[in-house]
Amino acid sequence: MTVLLPRDKNASRNIKQSKSESGYKTADVNKNKPRDINKPSILYNNKKINDNAKKVFIKTYGCQMNVYDSERMVDVLSPIGYMPVETPEDADLVILNTCHIREKAAEKVYSELGRIRQLKKKNNPGMKVAVAGCVAQAEGSEIKRRAPVVDMVLGPQTYHKLPEMIAKVHRNSGEVLETDFDTLEKFDNLPETRHVKGFSSFLTIQEGCDKFCTFCVVPYTRGAEVSRPVDQIINEARNLASQGVREITLIGQNVDAYSIMGPNFKQWGLGELISHIALIGGIDRLRFTTSHPRDMDDNLISILGAEPKLMPYLHLPIQAGSDKVLNAMNRGHTYQEYKLLIDKIRSSRPDIALSGDFIVGFPGETETDFQQTMRCVEEIGYASSFSFKYSVRPGTPGASLPQQVSEDVKSDRLKRLQDLLYSQQLEFNESLVGQTLDKRLQDLLYSQQLEFNESLVGQTLDVLIENVGRGENQLFGRSPYLQGTHFNGSADLIGQIRPVLITKAGRNSLSGELVQE
Ligand code: 5AD
Ligand code: SF4
Repeated sequence: MTVLLPRDKNASRNIKQSKSESGYKTADVNKNKPRDINKPSILYNNKKINDNAKKVFIKTYGCQMNVYDSERMVDVLSPIGYMPVETPEDADLVILNTCHIREKAAEKVYSELGRIRQLKKKNNPGMKVAVAGCVAQAEGSEIKRRAPVVDMVLGPQTYHKLPEMIAKVHRNSGEVLETDFDTLEKFDNLPETRHVKGFSSFLTIQEGCDKFCTFCVVPYTRGAEVSRPVDQIINEARNLASQGVREITLIGQNVDAYSIMGPNFKQWGLGELISHIALIGGIDRLRFTTSHPRDMDDNLISILGAEPKLMPYLHLPIQAGSDKVLNAMNRGHTYQEYKLLIDKIRSSRPDIALSGDFIVGFPGETETDFQQTMRCVEEIGYASSFSFKYSVRPGTPGASLPQQVSEDVKSDRLKRLQDLLYSQQLEFNESLVGQTLDKRLQDLLYSQQLEFNESLVGQTLDVLIENVGRGENQLFGRSPYLQGTHFNGSADLIGQIRPVLITKAGRNSLSGELVQE
């Protein structure tokens, strides 16, 4: 495997395999890191709660798009007197902002609604409950049927209607369900000012997806690709800068599909947008996620190398290494094309830290196909990654691929005859196969991540200091490669970008010493 070292423009080296840690990667320490979408987060802005304010508790599941949306719901609710709180116990309004990407994520919502129902019954009968996000969009009124505690169901493009919906619930006037798909109407109607805390913020520039990967629900829950107008984005970025934000992550389902008529009456892509946001004073760092290999054009790749404010981190999922599986997934590119793209990206930005998503066990994936995913990981070299077992999503083409049907058909007679005797054995064996594949891939990815971090020891990196750390006199910040970095220093440095000499590396974080300037 060849991995290019950060900050060493011409270097390449062979990385030997080392034994890696086990367990899942979690990435919820910092909200601007691609999130472990299996872990919900609570939105809370630490402001003192005004005694007269109504309280809203928002629990966010899924990706960074949902994190941004939850923050915008607070912006919508604040003018009508709501303040965010940390626990649901005495909240007037509970909102679950949900994710539908895998079956487990969607089912979690129903167990949470069970807990909320108990809570409401026990100590807060006046509490109103809303389900927002992709489960709301996908299941609509079915949610209210399965969980009558729910008062409102609202899809991702309808948050600007929250005040109206709350009024309707209080008037008791019929079903409160909004699942329209008008993304631009939402952005036109969201408040201009955002209430942010911290120095790093998400900014949605694009929503939806036209790619229709056969495993994915996103094109159905978020709708078609829609780009936000340039002036709206620039105004929002300026507003963030005026509130002290120093790092912006431009987000969208496919940010590199961003395309819109710019103020100069020329078509703008993500590259042009980045170059303009980079001109805003106070914004020192820019990132963007998620990218699709089909949409990374030459202009964007050259800006990745040329724009100093762009951080050297790129999340560019491939999902699988076998051309047969890539084709069945409708990814629209081969492994070779992805590899060439990575070569181009690395020649433009040699110190790039690459991150990827992988799915194992897609219908029809054989051991040979899986070995090609392993080969892909070895050849490309990832600094960070997310890997998942394929989850059947009803309504997506993957759910009805012929291989799955023929598996059932093949098993059918045998099953009926020997069900009782063999079912446990079969289930056990099948679960072992899945787990083994998943773990082997994760081990390889984790060892690469550790190797990458270790290669930074001895280097001085600019760290955006975000907070105090756990230990006494300790600070926490993010390196240009997005690793959490711990070092000693005084709390008045929070919000500054300072050089830190890296002295130690773990798989998920770095430690070091502040360099006196
Ligand atoms: N099963 C497993 N993983 C999935 N993803 C999307 N849909 C599924 C599914 N049905 C993963 C992809 C995507 C990431 C956000 O979630 O890897 O890039
Ligand atoms: Fe889903 Fe594929 Fe679109 Fe990504 S590109 S959101 S995986 S359909």
